[in-house]
Amino acid sequence: MNHFLDIHKTDPADLRHMIDSARAMKTARNGAPKATPDAEQPLKNHMVALIFEKPSTRTRVSFDVGVRQMGGETMVLSGSDMQLGHGETIADTARVLSRYVDLIMIRTFDEAVLTEMAEFADVPVINGLTDRTHPCQIMADVLTFEEHRGPIAGKKVVWAGDGNNVCASWLHAAGQFGFDLTFTGPVQLDPEMEFVGLARNAGAQIAIERDPMKAVEGADLIIADTWVSMHDAQSARERRHNMLRPYQVNRKLMEAAKPDTLFMHCLPAHREEEVTSEVMDGPNSVIWDEAENRLHAQKAIMRWCLGA
Ligand code: CP
Ligand code: NVA
Repeated sequence: MNHFLDIHKTDPADLRHMIDSARAMKTARNGAPKATPDAEQPLKNHMVALIFEKPSTRTRVSFDVGVRQMGGETMVLSGSDMQLGHGETIADTARVLSRYVDLIMIRTFDEAVLTEMAEFADVPVINGLTDRTHPCQIMADVLTFEEHRGPIAGKKVVWAGDGNNVCASWLHAAGQFGFDLTFTGPVQLDPEMEFVGLARNAGAQIAIERDPMKAVEGADLIIADTWVSMHDAQSARERRHNMLRPYQVNRKLMEAAKPDTLFMHCLPAHREEEVTSEVMDGPNSVIWDEAENRLHAQKAIMRWCLGA
């Protein structure tokens, strides 16, 4: 049994296997006539609990659809509806859920909730986003990059904006998949130096460049994310916007990179804030493939977790 908690805690060979497996399942499924179930149903007779303590569109729908495509069933639970939100410990919740379901996906605030769930559950636990990381997103993103540009190893990825949870998982991936990452953003919103150190120790070149125009030189991929994440205080909104405005991904910034530099955003996006519509809807943007690939990547993650 495997937990999927973070990219840097997962063996690079296993990560590679999941990306390849996602791609193979995607090809098989997209080539098959609509409404034909997968030839094999690896999650048949499996019940998957999807727990959300924060809002979600993509994670919720892609996990739900992915489980069904593989023959399993899901139960979508909101943290506040469960006793979890009313004082029952995470450990006790994990023990009880393990008696009912075969796999738990949880989106939560504090990373400690995720790790406690994994420690006390007898079934695999998947990180569906915490304040600190979002590994499922980056598995889909690596798949998307490689579909468009081939192997990501040795490529230059630029993160523009807030050094947040999605940026953290990109740093983890840099170490595991062997690409270089440049962070460009205000010093107050730098990524966690622990994660920068991890990536560097794993052999990735990680640069911090305050000038966004310099940062994107030679970039193979530029990534943006919201300037105010779900865990950020709304009172910090204006201050964050003021700090982050110079890091908006717009035509001028894309032109400072290469003609074929890809653009990604995990979505939901705030058009004309962290990215202009011109870039989002432009020829270098692969955001809809990226959103679709959440489904395929997570199917591979679930199979890996269950050994199915
Ligand atoms: N990218 C992502 O995780 O989207 P949701 O918040 O809609 O799940
Ligand atoms: N950084 C964003 C990602 C949303 C998928 C957030 O945590 O709100």
